[in-house]
Amino acid sequence: MSNSVSVANDSGVAIVTIDNPPVNALSFHVREPLMQALVALRDDASVAAIVIACAGRTFVAGADITEFGKPVLQPDLRAIVAMLETIAKPTVAAIHGTALGGGLELALGCHFRVADAGAKLGLPEVKLGLLPGGGGTVRLPRLVGAVKALRMIVSGAPIGAAEAHGAGLVDAVFEGDLVTHAVNFAREIARKGGPFTPVHDRNDGLKETDLAAFDAEAADLARRARGLEAPIACAQAVRNAVTLPFDEALAAERALFVKLVAGDQSRAQRHLFFAEREAAKLPGKDTPKRRIARVGVIGAGTMGGGIAMAFANGGFPVTLLETSEEALQRGLGTIDRNYAVSVSRGSLTEEAKRQRLSQFKGSTDYADLAECDLIVEAVFEDMAVKKEVFGKLDAVARPGAILATNTSYLDINEIAGSISRPQDVLGLHFFSPANVMKLLEIVRAGKTAPDALSTVVDLARRIGKVAVVVGVCHGFVGNRMLAARGSESEALLLEGATPSEIDKAFTDFGWPMGPFQMGDLAGLDIGWRNRKARGLTAVIADTLCEQGRFGQKTGRGFYLYEAGARAGVADPEVEALIRDKAAERGIEPRAICAEEIIERTLYPLVNEGAKILEEKIAARASDIDVVWVNGYGFPIGKGGPMFWAGLEGAARIVERLEYWHQRTGKDVFKPALLLKRMAETGSWEAEATD
Ligand code: COA
Repeated sequence: MSNSVSVANDSGVAIVTIDNPPVNALSFHVREPLMQALVALRDDASVAAIVIACAGRTFVAGADITEFGKPVLQPDLRAIVAMLETIAKPTVAAIHGTALGGGLELALGCHFRVADAGAKLGLPEVKLGLLPGGGGTVRLPRLVGAVKALRMIVSGAPIGAAEAHGAGLVDAVFEGDLVTHAVNFAREIARKGGPFTPVHDRNDGLKETDLAAFDAEAADLARRARGLEAPIACAQAVRNAVTLPFDEALAAERALFVKLVAGDQSRAQRHLFFAEREAAKLPGKDTPKRRIARVGVIGAGTMGGGIAMAFANGGFPVTLLETSEEALQRGLGTIDRNYAVSVSRGSLTEEAKRQRLSQFKGSTDYADLAECDLIVEAVFEDMAVKKEVFGKLDAVARPGAILATNTSYLDINEIAGSISRPQDVLGLHFFSPANVMKLLEIVRAGKTAPDALSTVVDLARRIGKVAVVVGVCHGFVGNRMLAARGSESEALLLEGATPSEIDKAFTDFGWPMGPFQMGDLAGLDIGWRNRKARGLTAVIADTLCEQGRFGQKTGRGFYLYEAGARAGVADPEVEALIRDKAAERGIEPRAICAEEIIERTLYPLVNEGAKILEEKIAARASDIDVVWVNGYGFPIGKGGPMFWAGLEGAARIVERLEYWHQRTGKDVFKPALLLKRMAETGSWEAEATD
């Protein structure tokens, strides 16, 4: 017996309890006593059946991710599952919470699985750039069929207990005390007598596999993998379960796992897993929180409406404020329609829609915000307008209410300084559409009170956002780096690269779309307006806007869009315009390769990230990665810009930046001190030492 595994005997039914908080991961200090306990129980004649259960909030939620990439200490999970399958008496996994990854694979080693009605079961390894390496790809299809297993393993999405029951993965679902139910279930099965067939020897699910349909679906999934190796390996492993004998398929699964776990993509995805959890941690963990019962949102446009929905979806009543009844009704109408779309897609029930809508209270009177504990303004991006709103809030908000701005660029210290309670002011920078996008930049202003900050960090988690705390600067972390990424776009065009060539370099890198496709989607007029406000110009983009080419919404931008089409085609007119503008400047077009495009866009992106770290606008390099992966589509297989800098080689990045700095004299290419230090030490950690 150990602290992590204990055994009790309930009149002949052994209960093995795993207790390894917080999520009962299968660490070495669990595996070793678990194996010993199972061997002893197998040989114990007084035991008629074995139940494996877990203490705490969940069944085993997976292998211990911190052990990946290190030498495997025996017994590994595969050995435990293989041993489980040699036990002749019935074995039952009692699943509550989440049986994920190695947890589900452990359960698949048992003859039977019973689950609490609220349990979830899945194999999410693909999200860590892996495939299930403990027999999951070979055993799951034997129970649920190859196509269902393919979908579960390639998506990594868990399924609920009822669905698992229907699919044959779970043998019984219970409400109430699960262990008692599981013990009764095991006793009854043992009484009826065996033999009990291990999953290894079952092939109920595989009997009617239509391999052609399977291959068609796998090919479709591979197309959508966008350069990620894991989804393709997952599909291959499930296919092996159909076409190869069990042991050969298991060996092939192992070989694929070993390859993936040592690869950069999985390292990157594991880095992101921990980075997201780290980003949500503030120093001084026990800072008291303010009570948030009702949220106010000012502005019912696209941004405000989305923010209001994000809070309502998280269970908060929301007071939505607009300047006129007409604007308010328009905003509420849009919210209603957005929920209706979710209903029509089947992701929300009619009842849930009604419930969500009942959370909203519309108003045109600032006095109604007095009952709110957090108020987020999402009005026009203009300092004078924002200050006016905050002045009104200062007059009506209750003492201690948190006052947040959703500004993307403006100086929050200036906003905070304009009212009598700067300690209550901070930034909540949502990304559009705010009810969908996971990222939330939480901006800590100079005088923001620690308890206000820790309250919103906690709140962000409750509404399902990935939160990153950042400091005040123009554009914060994300948009400031975006500007650095785009600083050479026009120059590249003028020197001879076409929008399609640049976008292709990006999509080949793994981005969902390139900068010009993104500009067309978001609307080119947004950047145009921003540039005008700041006295900046961009000769090509400005000219397109002057011609009314705002992107997809006008059917023309950098690309041409056939009526209603989302994918654009290259437009000879735009290419001619670029050549004309280049000629006016005496620039002779030349062929520009993908490598140069990456150097002149993504190296400045990394460089700006290093400057942001130097200035302590972000606390950790990994926080920047979380921002870019969750808010801007940086490819997860590369781990975010700062992680990727390590893969690419910081020394190379510095060398090329210096080259481009010499050639262009532009500041974006001037290597940051921290980047140079990274080139020497191989780590961003130095950031913490000064
Ligand atoms: N190995 C090691 N640590 C793990 C872990 C694992 N498989 N799963 C979670 N943790 C750690 C987290 O890092 C976190 O640590 P921290 O508190 O020091 O930051 C802690 O457990 C709690 O996890 P968190 O994700 O914050 O809790 P949650 O309640 O929101 O979610 C899970 C719980 C299990 C759903 C979620 O942690 C998860 O999806 N885990 C990964 C499951 C997985 O991929 N398993 C397959 C691996 S084979």
